[in-house]
Amino acid sequence: MRLGIIGGTGSAGVLPPGTTVASPPGPWGMTSAPLHRCDVNGHEVFLLARHGAPGAPAIPPHQVNYRANLWALRELGVAHVLGLNAVGGIMPEATPGRLVIPDQLIDYTWGREHTYTGDSRFPLQHVEFTTPFSAPLRSQLIEAARRCSLDVLRAGTYGATQGPRLETAAEIDRLERDGCHVVGMTAMPEAGLARELDLSYAICCMVVNRAAGRAAPGVAIHGEIAASMAAATAGVRRLIMELLVRD
Ligand code: HPA
Repeated sequence: MRLGIIGGTGSAGVLPPGTTVASPPGPWGMTSAPLHRCDVNGHEVFLLARHGAPGAPAIPPHQVNYRANLWALRELGVAHVLGLNAVGGIMPEATPGRLVIPDQLIDYTWGREHTYTGDSRFPLQHVEFTTPFSAPLRSQLIEAARRCSLDVLRAGTYGATQGPRLETAAEIDRLERDGCHVVGMTAMPEAGLARELDLSYAICCMVVNRAAGRAAPGVAIHGEIAASMAAATAGVRRLIMELLVRD
């Protein structure tokens, strides 16, 4: 398959070395960064760093040009897109270092360019979004995790918050009452835009901290993030390599 990966915080280095590809020109402005292209077992893979090239000032979640990023991947002939997202764990099982393949989301973001529709460049459509993530791609991820004995949570609801600040404990209580299992800042509008472009899109979340108000007493969120990022990234790397075994 030709796979696009939109990497989040901590995703640099999930792919083997390759070449740098300039983002193809498009009508929606600049992508977050040039793309990294590599071959894994005969599969062509493009990695786009959502928060910008390593070393450049990080683009905050509300300023990512999600439209340009997904458009560029489609221009490169990608049909399947895997989003990688660092998240906070709300449900007790979502502990730092674990991976989650959500099957649902709730969007709490606001003010982001969240659709291609609304001007002459793109026809109006009311895309179906009952199931926001591609079921076949999710199944492939879950099956790959099983094959390589990787501990992943196979479902869950992702709450997309605006950031860049983390949440209050009361906000997390509300998300939990709403049914969210993990919280992050970047799956929306990415998932909705992918659907507008008819891309097969799923996400793999790396739990890097317990959400606000859920950590053990005395545990600071940023300390937890620093301590768990490497393990979570190693898990994602294993998952991607197993997803791309030669078929
Ligand atoms: N909240 C929102 N986004 C996040 C978190 C969090 O706790 N951790 C990593 N991304």
